[in-house]
Amino acid sequence: MVKPDAVERGLIGDIIQRLESKQLRVVAADLRTIDPITAERHYAEHVGKPFYQPLVNFITSGPTLLLIVEGPEETWKVVRTLMGATDPKDAAPGTIRGDLATKTRENLIHGSDSPESVEREIAIFFPHLA
Ligand code: RTP
Ligand code: MG
Repeated sequence: MVKPDAVERGLIGDIIQRLESKQLRVVAADLRTIDPITAERHYAEHVGKPFYQPLVNFITSGPTLLLIVEGPEETWKVVRTLMGATDPKDAAPGTIRGDLATKTRENLIHGSDSPESVEREIAIFFPHLA
């Protein structure tokens, strides 16, 4: 998910270029403003944490670009590595967050963090493809 801050900043092209340069292929894409119910489903693991409500507010604040990308193996892990650490202040140079972000909440991109998350999140955002 290219988050609302990245869409607003015009970073869609940069982010997709990094994925494609790594030989990942975009197989589905949808520019969509996520509704609060869907955002709460997506971020259910964070219910009760202090950053939960601000996170839901942020992720529903404008359009996101939802992507499914495929690659030869463990693509979720490849994408997480390209993203960099959650807090951009810790993210390595060369990563999306390390190069382009500074704030923990507005960190430009979300990626599934396990094969189970991949299945779960495709079912949430692309139910016709699940
Ligand atoms: P994501 O789920 O968005 O791919 O990011 P992640 O796995 O790297 O990080 P996670 O721990 O799942 O946190 C989800 C998103 O919540 C925001 N966040 N804010 N302390 C804070 O203010 C805080 N911690 C996390 C970030 O937008 C993070 O990506
Ligand atoms: Mg996460």
